[in-house]
Amino acid sequence: MKKNIEWTKRHLLGIEDLDRDEIVTMLDQAEGFKEILKRPIPKVPALRGRTIVTLFCEPSTRTRISFELAAKRLSADTVNITASSSSFLKGETLKDTVRNIEAMQIDMVIIRHSCAGAPLFLSRCVEASVVNAGDGAHEHPTQALLDIFTIREKLGKIKGLNVCIVGDIAHSRVARSNIHALTKLGAKVTVCGPKTMMPVDIEKTGVTVTYDIKEALKKAEVLNVLRIQAERQNQLLFPGTREYIRGFGITKAKLKKYAEKDILILHPGPINRGVELSQDVADGEYSVILDQVTNGVAVRMAVLFLLSKRRKQ
Ligand code: CP
Repeated sequence: MKKNIEWTKRHLLGIEDLDRDEIVTMLDQAEGFKEILKRPIPKVPALRGRTIVTLFCEPSTRTRISFELAAKRLSADTVNITASSSSFLKGETLKDTVRNIEAMQIDMVIIRHSCAGAPLFLSRCVEASVVNAGDGAHEHPTQALLDIFTIREKLGKIKGLNVCIVGDIAHSRVARSNIHALTKLGAKVTVCGPKTMMPVDIEKTGVTVTYDIKEALKKAEVLNVLRIQAERQNQLLFPGTREYIRGFGITKAKLKKYAEKDILILHPGPINRGVELSQDVADGEYSVILDQVTNGVAVRMAVLFLLSKRRKQ
């Protein structure tokens, strides 16, 4: 049952902060924007006069471009800053950087940072709305929203679906945000990966845990396959790439042998082809990886639009 609400939140820091109705409101708003994106001129004046800054202190292809396009499709003015081209390099703090940017009359800051909690910290220092575009291993809320939007679009529902998240769960902000969103929307979530990549007490989030890919594939209707987050691991967590592929790499042969149903394949990107996903699965008939990227623009339009409507709390 859909229930859209009047939006009141100023920031989007994580899916953990949203309730079911807020998530559904975001998804439904994104559906409307997806229709607009199919028009010959895919642009609306909703955020004309607003200024949105993207501040990326970690590399990104999809998220940064997608947020910028979303802001432009809503007619906002955009400014992009990266850590390597800013006064961070001269020792300026994150707080000073953003307060200086805010002094130029901006409305929203979209931040990606390697430290979990950086967006929350910023939200306490500035008047502008803050959007988390990925903070350390904590959350990546818009990735989860676009993943769930894509699943709902392809399969027509979330409630009751068997969704399996495979790979480096411990270091994945995508996994954390997906678990919050999927469990709030009533999906049955399983996480599967090496024991060394499984967070302690992950069962407490309402997921089922398995270390056996055969068991995971048997009942799955959706697989969200994660990248190995080497940049957040400070020690080797599996003997070698070949062992990882043998245990947890998703190949056509494994799907054919163990899956009982056709499985929708998602991946947040960037893909390590031949490691977490074989070529034939990444580009296969059940892969919706590029649909996720397309839907990311509509979902991020929904986020920017709804946050800009908020009443101050
Ligand atoms: N999915 C994702 O966050 O990709 P980027 O790192 O390219 O933004």
